[in-house]
Amino acid sequence: MQLSPLQSRLAASLVASCLLFILYLFLFAPQFASATDVNPIPTGHILDDYPYDVEDDTEPLDLRAPSYEPEFSLFDRSIMGRAANNVVTIGAEEPRSSNIDPGTTNSYVFEPSSVSGRPAQDSNTSRELRRSLNGTEEDAKRKEDDTLALDSDLQPRQHSPKRVYISANTCSQPDRVSPDQTSVDPPQLTLFVSTSKENMSPGPGKDPTTQKAIVFKEGAVMYNTSTGSDIVFSISAPSVSKNYFSQSSPYNYEVAVSLERHYHAYQEDTENEKNRALYWVDSDADSTLLKTKSLATKSDEVISDPPYVVFVQNTNNPSINGIRKSYCGLKRYAQIRPLDDGNGRISTGLRKTEDNNSTIQEFFIGGLNASSDYKGILAINTNSSIQKREIGSPIGGLDGGLIVYNAIKIQTKPIGACTVVFNLTMCPESRYAVPGNQTSYPNRTALAGFYDDYVKTMYESFDKVLQQTPCQAPSTQQYSLARNCNDCKKAYKDWLCTVAVPKCDDFSTVDEPFLHMRNINKPFPNGTLVDKSITDKYGQKKAYNSSRNLAIDEEVQPGPYKERLPCDYLCYELVRSCPASMGFSCPVPDSKYGFNTSYAVPDRNRDFSCNYPGSAAIPSSASIMTVTWASIAIVMIGGLLAL
Ligand SMILES: *[C@@H]1O[C@H](CO)[C@@H](O)[C@H](O)[C@H]1NC(C)=O
Ligand SMILES: *[C@@H]1O[C@H](CO)[C@@H](O)[C@H](O)[C@H]1NC(C)=O
Ligand SMILES: *[C@@H]1O[C@H](CO)[C@@H](O)[C@H](O)[C@H]1NC(C)=O
Ligand SMILES: *[C@@H]1O[C@H](CO)[C@@H](O)[C@H](O)[C@H]1NC(C)=O
Ligand SMILES: *[C@@H]1O[C@H](CO)[C@@H](O)[C@H](O)[C@H]1NC(C)=O
Ligand SMILES: *[C@@H]1O[C@H](CO)[C@@H](O)[C@H](O)[C@H]1NC(C)=O
Ligand SMILES: *[C@@H]1O[C@H](CO)[C@@H](O)[C@H](O)[C@H]1NC(C)=O
Ligand SMILES: *[C@@H]1O[C@H](CO)[C@@H](O)[C@H](O)[C@H]1NC(C)=O
Repeated sequence: MQLSPLQSRLAASLVASCLLFILYLFLFAPQFASATDVNPIPTGHILDDYPYDVEDDTEPLDLRAPSYEPEFSLFDRSIMGRAANNVVTIGAEEPRSSNIDPGTTNSYVFEPSSVSGRPAQDSNTSRELRRSLNGTEEDAKRKEDDTLALDSDLQPRQHSPKRVYISANTCSQPDRVSPDQTSVDPPQLTLFVSTSKENMSPGPGKDPTTQKAIVFKEGAVMYNTSTGSDIVFSISAPSVSKNYFSQSSPYNYEVAVSLERHYHAYQEDTENEKNRALYWVDSDADSTLLKTKSLATKSDEVISDPPYVVFVQNTNNPSINGIRKSYCGLKRYAQIRPLDDGNGRISTGLRKTEDNNSTIQEFFIGGLNASSDYKGILAINTNSSIQKREIGSPIGGLDGGLIVYNAIKIQTKPIGACTVVFNLTMCPESRYAVPGNQTSYPNRTALAGFYDDYVKTMYESFDKVLQQTPCQAPSTQQYSLARNCNDCKKAYKDWLCTVAVPKCDDFSTVDEPFLHMRNINKPFPNGTLVDKSITDKYGQKKAYNSSRNLAIDEEVQPGPYKERLPCDYLCYELVRSCPASMGFSCPVPDSKYGFNTSYAVPDRNRDFSCNYPGSAAIPSSASIMTVTWASIAIVMIGGLLAL
């Protein structure tokens, strides 16, 4: 078809217009795209929720450049450009693990803006601009920005200062030149945090007024600051002497930034004794029992899995020197540690205590050496969502992702009579070393069974006698207005569990008023006998040459040991709580051999100065009940409950 001149002119101008439009698009398209992208109020119904009107929406676009500026003013562009190669951007709650050679420094930058609720268009602009500086870095962050973009438009444009927590753990240190080199421990890493815009690469040798240097303590560091702008910090490894350490093995650490709490936290050594998290309950020659303080659980939640872990280290073993406060360090180097394959020497479980129904976690650790000193270190990873939900707050009021508590002292006993038992059905709180015998009772479960059966037999006979008193009668017709049969049962059980399941200390333990020698005429496991001067003096006395409960000597045959005597008030409580017709009585304190060989008076100034249910190792003021003599309005006939 032939076009008329008018038509062809129209066509030509149409083509020209199109070309012009395409040229226009080509030149200015980004702004269009940007404008449509960033418009946060696309439809009317959303607008209803906005406190400001559409006109305002154009304003931020113009203001964006200046509002972006302050955030970056910290970085001199040229420095930013130069530093880009070795400064790693770290996000919140994103632990980074890295090797570092002695004598070098790794630098990090944390941008609070990356997690703040900043306007979506704002982060788009900064991303655009930064991409021209470094094209790769921002892509990784886009996802994060996008998720925040949703509700961000109402946030104030300026960052309000935030508390930022920086923490790190040393996971490994340079190897010693030889295992015998134990005189020098590897030096600690140092965290440097820039406090000035002038100092873009904090580290050793920089002006100390422009940075803060915090040396790690036992492989851990915690630092917090309040800031609205980016934080530049670095981890620096000291040079190590080639006389002591391999020059080819680097340090390894994990560093993290958080806006909530320290990702890595530890308990200061100076921490109040009240905040102790872990307690040493008792040991025998090759194992030990530890327990945590009561777990603070959310009232409506039942903890399903034991949340804590424990690390145990012989004090002579230097493998954790310098990393005692580091979760990852202990996980790698502690001598006895929870292993992923579950093949460790630690068994753990949760238990509700009898008295106040609090939940504790217990650890039984086997495979230890006799007569040795150990350190036990409790730790928790609150990172897992189950634990975060179930544990209200970790023990000791500590807040953190990975928390390492103070080390506690543990000692094992010499090879002798004492064996740790637990899980007795009748006496769930009797969890300590009892008189045992490696030859006749090598199996600790079987030994526990022996004591359990004995207690059951005793309790059954008691129960038969108690049934002869009118327990069901109205209180006015009972044996006492103040006490009833349940009080009597409880008092009897508490007394029985300490008397029939004696707490054992090795015969070599230094004498104390609350320790009493038993079974001294029998040989030790190695065949030797008790010192003759002792047997000459006490060998004829029943309180010394036998056990309190003869079945122990007949069945278990433990050899000489020392009994940690039950607290006297357990006996008084029994006498007060049960019907007089049952005939219970306690020895008076100045009877020649009745009292001192049977009970101990609690010493307020000392922990564990006598044995009571649950005494194990937690000094608890509640259970050290003071019973004054004046308050005991009962006549005591010596001897019956002694021995
Ligand atoms: C951008 O940053 C990455 C990682 O920090 C770095 O490897 C890369 O060389 C940088 N690119 C430019 C162009 O600076
Ligand atoms: C933050 O640091 C200050 C000073 O170093 C310190 O006193 C404070 O306890 C720290 N806060 C936390 C939550 O660790
Ligand atoms: C026990 O002692 C031996 C020899 O001293 C030592 O090699 C080993 O590591 C010790 N074991 C424990 C668990 O302490
Ligand atoms: C903490 O949790 C995050 C996400 O659930 C996970 O990626 C990280 O490995 C965990 N860290 C530790 C030490 O368990
Ligand atoms: C003690 O008994 C409890 C409950 O029966 C059990 O779960 C736990 O494994 C026992 N402890 C040990 C160390 O055997
Ligand atoms: C110890 O004794 C218990 C029961 O008495 C038994 O189930 C267990 O297998 C024994 N353990 C060993 C190592 O013999
Ligand atoms: C035998 O054992 C006892 C008690 O544990 C100890 O005092 C004594 O030194 C030991 N004797 C030998 C020869 O090992
Ligand atoms: C009993 O022990 C107490 C405290 O150790 C002591 O003062 C008292 O003399 C002892 N009595 C007898 C009869 O040994």
